[in-house]
Amino acid sequence: GKGAAMVTAVAYRLAEQSKQISQILSEFRLTTEQLLEVKNRMRVEIQNGLSKSTHESATVKMLPTFVQSTPNGTEHGDFLALDLGGTNFRVLLVKIRSGKKRSVEMHNKIYAIPLEVMQGTGEELFDHIVHCISDFLDYMGMKNARLPLGFTFSFPCKQTSLDAGTLVTWTKGFKATDCEGEDVVGLLRDAIKRREEFELDVVAIVNDTVGTMMTCAYEEPTCEVGLIAGTGSNACYMEEMRNVEMVDGDDGQMCVNMEWGAFGDNGCLDDMRTEYDRAVDDLSLNPGKQRYEKMCSGMYLGEIVRNILIDMTKKGFLFRGQISETLKTRGIFETKFLSQIESDRLALLQVRSILQHLGLDSTCDDSIIVKEVCGIVSRRAAQLCGAGMAAVVEKIRENRGVDHLKITVGVDGTLYKLHPHFSLIMHQTVNELAPKCSVNFLLSEDGSGKGAALITAVGCRLRQELNS
Ligand code: GLC
Repeated sequence: GKGAAMVTAVAYRLAEQSKQISQILSEFRLTTEQLLEVKNRMRVEIQNGLSKSTHESATVKMLPTFVQSTPNGTEHGDFLALDLGGTNFRVLLVKIRSGKKRSVEMHNKIYAIPLEVMQGTGEELFDHIVHCISDFLDYMGMKNARLPLGFTFSFPCKQTSLDAGTLVTWTKGFKATDCEGEDVVGLLRDAIKRREEFELDVVAIVNDTVGTMMTCAYEEPTCEVGLIAGTGSNACYMEEMRNVEMVDGDDGQMCVNMEWGAFGDNGCLDDMRTEYDRAVDDLSLNPGKQRYEKMCSGMYLGEIVRNILIDMTKKGFLFRGQISETLKTRGIFETKFLSQIESDRLALLQVRSILQHLGLDSTCDDSIIVKEVCGIVSRRAAQLCGAGMAAVVEKIRENRGVDHLKITVGVDGTLYKLHPHFSLIMHQTVNELAPKCSVNFLLSEDGSGKGAALITAVGCRLRQELNS
């Protein structure tokens, strides 16, 4: 009868709908062949960044950091550290003891950087940073100490020494004017002078990947790689000096800040980017830049999800076809929400309540679809990141000329730490794509602070050696 016909029609519509939904999502499923291709392309870009003849036009910049060894345990002293460029801005006091009572003690305070400061003038940004340092020194009662300072500045910097680095370009959410092309240490020193309140000795500028590697290497000497899977995505590793063609000298090693987030900016990943990746890129602060980062990191995964959900809603598969104001809002799906939605322990009802909390009215079916979308987007991110890491460990294996490499990677970042599946999928991908390497991942405990202090300690030691 009529009822049966209606049921059939509904069943048909649902089947058709789920077919179209899987079609949308199928582009995000990468095959092993595709991932191997990503690894191989990364390997090519690594070479381009390292070689003098191709460096200028290379997208993966492979920036020398002037960090030439991992810690040896003799580092000691009191240091200030700044951490700018991750989820939070922090000022830290780090006390490192060497010898038998080897230990690291830290005090830190988190400060907000208002959006208008992140995207205002450079002078305002650095004045704000120095204002926060001032507050911290008051809080610790150390205004007169003139401490050595390590500045973890998690953006691409062209360094000419440990304490000089020109900002190549802002990435992530930053866009302060008059900083690109400037020496960041100079900008900080100028701001300290402007305030005329305290003196500091800026000894090192440090990328967060390098800080992370150094922190892990302090505990585990086999750690020669640093990885950040957080707001942004990037890696560093100890490269042979003979391969670091942008710096003179062939002996020993130097840590290289890869800036792998820019992988794909020459179009080499275009065959794997979806229309949603392009939409996220187009709407970002830096269109056309950091394309790999925009497929892999916390700042953008939620945006990819949101763009898919908008499209599905337009097609009538979600939210009763109604695009709410919330769904139109950029940045609603932060890493912590994705992580919650994908948590296995969560019942669908709880997924719905998270969506509700975000201002999205969902049915039970909606919540199933949203969870699936999140899962597919974050799985691809973890696999892409793993493919990049496979290229790095393979490069190190080649450098050493060994059949098998055992190595430790120090890792930090909210995506790696908070997401319920990211780390596991990333590990599996590395194992699959780099079978000749045994890679051990070590979670870094506060890499940006501790690592900057360790590097500053080494910098101070080298200075003293030069002066004596
Ligand atoms: C961005 C920055 C890079 C940093 C990474 C992780 O990719 O350009 O320097 O290491 O984010 O914070």
